[in-house]
Amino acid sequence: MAASFTVLDHPLAGDLLTRLRDRDTGPAEYRALTRRLGLLLVAEATRDLASEPRKVDTPLEPFEGTRVTKRVVAIPVLRAGLGLLEAVTDLYPDAVVGYLGMERDEETHEPRDYYAKLPDLGGRKALVVDPMLATGGSGSAAVGYVKDAGADDITFVCVVAAPEGLERLHTDHADVPVVAAALDRELNANAYILPGLGDFGDRLYGTF
Ligand code: PRP
Ligand code: URA
Repeated sequence: MAASFTVLDHPLAGDLLTRLRDRDTGPAEYRALTRRLGLLLVAEATRDLASEPRKVDTPLEPFEGTRVTKRVVAIPVLRAGLGLLEAVTDLYPDAVVGYLGMERDEETHEPRDYYAKLPDLGGRKALVVDPMLATGGSGSAAVGYVKDAGADDITFVCVVAAPEGLERLHTDHADVPVVAAALDRELNANAYILPGLGDFGDRLYGTF
């Protein structure tokens, strides 16, 4: 299967992401901007969500419309993924939510999973949301976890992807589409994304 990668192409996405990159943006604004950008990302990530015909009567005449039939499960990767969670539940209020805790070791850059609580994933569209895809270690481990728990329709949603992380995710999980607001240039020696926006979790929660 050909791996799929989509970068949001929308002036509002560019505007919001630029403000997230700005070092002077503080945590309260950061959370608000992340949520707004998340709405655009989640709408893109669910572009192909299954729907069926639905008839309604407008005040003037009958109308054949549609209703979304596929249910959604949101899986934020703690902590930073929490910033994107409400974008999913705003757009899909009947979404169920699972949580995965992953933390990168500062020396080795390898992820350590420290928490998991997943609902029944059968028949649902799973959105694994984590703003940063750097080495891809956390994202790949998170997707693997969700697959092992029974999901067979997964999309990975991030704010910024690095080429290295995208390659890792595509190699490990070619069946999982990736949606991002930007594909950045490279990783630095500490596996931070360049130009990037720094440590997303720290900026979101003010833990500097
Ligand atoms: C960040 C980010 C990803 C991970 C990406 O989380 O939210 O989970 O790093 O890096 P990788 O692609 O190299 O694995 P972090 O480990 O900083 O934890 P936090 O969300 O609790 O701040
Ligand atoms: N995690 C982040 O929050 N930022 C990066 O640049 C890389 C990993």
